[in-house]
Amino acid sequence: MTAPDLEAKIAANRANWNARAKLHVLSPFYNVQRYIDEPKAISSTVQWDRTVLGEVAGLDMLHLQCHIGTDTISWARLGANMVGLDFSEAALEEARKLAAKAGFAVEFVQGDAREADRILGRQFDVVYASVGVLPWIPDVGAWARAAAACLRPGGRLYLRDGHPILATLDYARGDDQVVCISPYFRTGVAERDEFVYSYTGDELPHDARVNFQWHHTLGEILGALLASGLQIQHFQEHDWLDWQALDCMVQVADGRWRLPGDRIPLAYTVIAVRPG
Ligand SMILES: C[S@@+](CC[C@H](N)C(=O)[O-])C[C@H]1O[C@@H](n2cnc3c(N)ncnc32)[C@H](O)[C@@H]1O
Repeated sequence: MTAPDLEAKIAANRANWNARAKLHVLSPFYNVQRYIDEPKAISSTVQWDRTVLGEVAGLDMLHLQCHIGTDTISWARLGANMVGLDFSEAALEEARKLAAKAGFAVEFVQGDAREADRILGRQFDVVYASVGVLPWIPDVGAWARAAAACLRPGGRLYLRDGHPILATLDYARGDDQVVCISPYFRTGVAERDEFVYSYTGDELPHDARVNFQWHHTLGEILGALLASGLQIQHFQEHDWLDWQALDCMVQVADGRWRLPGDRIPLAYTVIAVRPG
């Protein structure tokens, strides 16, 4: 793929995320008003992630692919000094409005996550990215290098995402069978979709439906973290997911879905440390 081809795909994704951000901020799925009205509101994503990451009060924390800022503000509420980065200007506009209304001084910076270190030019105690991260990144090596370079010595990268096995499944089935129909080892290929609806259920405008994703195996992801000089401190696969990926999945708790019989891993969490 030539560089202009790749940048055209990234531009299509940015248009898609700009459109999503404007819809998501109005959607009950994100319920942004709750972060303004409820002084203790923490997103369900951060509710889980804080149990693994631990105390963050006083830490400098970078949130990569921060979207409309609901998770970023949740961390700020837990005492971290937050910077959010996203390539969608519409998402950042909404994130800045939300932070101002909720009373948090969070800095939101526009840019591609693959260039976060060059764009920000400073380092953090924690680099955080969670739920819907790497499928939109064409080069996981570039993403890992940028994330690692944003860490101070001793700093930690926290990454939680859907498990790559999800990208092999047949989503058109109406029964409870989990069937693998696409090769797992198909990395480096841009896969084009046209989404009529966002995951919030909102209908996307006709000119912002095209979306490109890149599949990365778990080995490729962990290998990219190691190649960027990080040391893996924690790794866990999960039998639950933050969204209903298959019709047969059942909701087990606020924001959590499980597959009857727990037949495959649905998500993973990794913490990797920059050596001191
Ligand atoms: C699923 S959302 C973020 C997930 C977060 N858990 C949430 O729900 O708020 C993915 C985000 O990645 C951003 N994004 C996608 N590709 C990007 C890239 N190459 N660089 C920076 N941001 C990117 C999108 O704009 C979007 O805001």
